[in-house]
Amino acid sequence: MEVLVGKGHKEMSEIALQIFLDSFKSSKVLGFATGNTPMLFYEMLIAEFRKGSISFSRKITFNLDEYCGIGKWDKRGYRSYMFDNLFSHVDVNEKNVHIPDSSLGAKAALIYRKEIQKYGPIDFQMLGIGVNGHIGFNEPGSSKDSLTRIVRLSSETIKRNGNVSDKAITMGISEILKSKRIMLMASGADKAEAVAAAIDGKVGNAVPASYLQMHKDAIFVLDEKAAKRLK
Ligand code: GLP
Repeated sequence: MEVLVGKGHKEMSEIALQIFLDSFKSSKVLGFATGNTPMLFYEMLIAEFRKGSISFSRKITFNLDEYCGIGKWDKRGYRSYMFDNLFSHVDVNEKNVHIPDSSLGAKAALIYRKEIQKYGPIDFQMLGIGVNGHIGFNEPGSSKDSLTRIVRLSSETIKRNGNVSDKAITMGISEILKSKRIMLMASGADKAEAVAAAIDGKVGNAVPASYLQMHKDAIFVLDEKAAKRLK
């Protein structure tokens, strides 16, 4: 596992962008993440697109997760997030965009599993990390064999994410680990404990991000604050 540390959030985002761009040409299937952490990264990526150096027109995209119980285009949802922060600003073909559609109800998870099977494995998967070590919405307790499914969120996650929903649909650990290359971004002191547990701690379901220790091409891109508890 590789660990790269930038000075602050901006430098972390620049490092992440460089890694993403290095893999871009050879990656057909891209896995995107949401949250506050990659927002500047997406801004920089749009700037790169506007320079004319990259095109998304032949890329297939997958997102990690979505809330349940909200409308498909609810502003608090991750579909809106992705279009507002990236997809509406680049030349991605909307029919190549895959985001779990919780409005489909119980069958949504199975449909998403099949889409991943059809187009996967994901060549380059981005991740963030929750303060409790979750990746996607794979909360502590998630098995390494888990597939896309509907999950109950922890009270900590519900509160931190602004009480949008107590349930979500998430890509599973098994599907994430099948990605050829994985880049996890984290910044800020509130992530330091989860990051240390993921990188230096025991591999297991108590800290889902620790499963990345089992992956042969996983990179953590951190800022100094998120890295401060590392050994
Ligand atoms: C959310 C998302 C994750 C994201 C994480 C970190 O709950 N489901 O995919 O990586 O929490 O979010 P943030 O970057 O806002 O701290």
